[in-house]
Amino acid sequence: MELKRILLGVTGGVAAYKAAELARLMVKDGLDVQVVMTEAARHFVGAATFQAITGHPVFSDLWDERVDNGMAHIDLSRGVDAILVAPASADFLAKLVQGRADDLLSTLCLARDCPLLLAPAMNRQMWEAAPTQRNVAQLQADGVSLLGPDCGEQACGEVGFGRMLEPEDLLEAAQARFQPKRLAGLKVLITAGPTFEPIDAVRGISNSSSGKMGYAVARAALEAGAEVTLVTGPTCLTPPREAVTKRVTSAQEMLGVVEEAADGADIFISVAAVADYYVLNRSEQKIKKDAHILTLELAPNPDILANISSRPKPPFCVGFAAESENVEEYAELKRRRKHLPLIVANDVNEAIGSDDVQLILLDEGGRHVLPTADKRSQARRLIAHIAMLYNQKYQ
Ligand code: CTP
Repeated sequence: MELKRILLGVTGGVAAYKAAELARLMVKDGLDVQVVMTEAARHFVGAATFQAITGHPVFSDLWDERVDNGMAHIDLSRGVDAILVAPASADFLAKLVQGRADDLLSTLCLARDCPLLLAPAMNRQMWEAAPTQRNVAQLQADGVSLLGPDCGEQACGEVGFGRMLEPEDLLEAAQARFQPKRLAGLKVLITAGPTFEPIDAVRGISNSSSGKMGYAVARAALEAGAEVTLVTGPTCLTPPREAVTKRVTSAQEMLGVVEEAADGADIFISVAAVADYYVLNRSEQKIKKDAHILTLELAPNPDILANISSRPKPPFCVGFAAESENVEEYAELKRRRKHLPLIVANDVNEAIGSDDVQLILLDEGGRHVLPTADKRSQARRLIAHIAMLYNQKYQ
């Protein structure tokens, strides 16, 4: 099931200000967001902020007359796919455990027929306290999902567990909860981004890959329940927190890390735009300019994907082919040359740096077009296709 409509509950805590950013990200992601705040939350952030962001009136009161039939405690959670309470205070967790219903949000949580997700946020000692831990265990036994908390610096100045997950991570975790677990129990290795081949201490050769597609594939694999290792060249992106991320610079460095990680991998998805050449006459020191012509000698880099796919027992290998002409023909040639069960072809003229792409999947069975969509949707479709082929082959 897809997450389309969500009820965002906000309880009283300093992290309530981050709930506004969370609401913004959810709306940007195409979700319909209905906010319900507790009375305490209103001391931290104003309802008008949420109203402006979500386009819906914000409710707090059980007796709110704006709900047509006077049944706000039931009506607001009807038709939503999930309730996410962020931040969820220690007091609110305790209330949920007892099944109390003395305000609108706790009543909605009790009278629901959809999953309940909680993002706890509180001081470290409150989180570690025995009653809170008992409550958490009880809520989990009741089938409630806890997202976080995280460890880090807190509003009170202390450091420890109790920090609310960042809004991006919360949205990701909530989305993941609704994706089918097609890759559960599988180890997936993914490369992403460009490589950077140094010329001297400060300069180098790279390409315009943003890393967005590879990171989206990593997120989609995580959502599908896989254990993900992401080997990434230099990008400005934040890697998904659930992935084991290894940062590299050059193609040779990437090869070293990938060779090690590929040993236990079930699936290898090579999304990185690996530089085909490195600089042979690289200088350790910064090259000073003079009037002479500077000649760079370029030597071929190892082909990381071909290295892995030619192993005696390779993981299920998926390549990407970024082409500027004869897209499908060149991609299919690459697929055969590198012995890949699947290659993903895209047109570089539209793909690099852009958020929307068309992908063409080429496998033994022929071609499958994934019509233009944002990279995250495409990554999910690609993961579904990989899971299907993988299962056909191994199960
Ligand atoms: N690839 C790789 N290591 C390289 C070059 C490419 O692992 N040194 C992988 C890419 O991650 C991608 C696939 O191979 O999955 C195709 O990459 P591409 O650069 O398009 O193909 P090449 O084989 O390098 O062919 P060409 O540059 O001639 O198009």
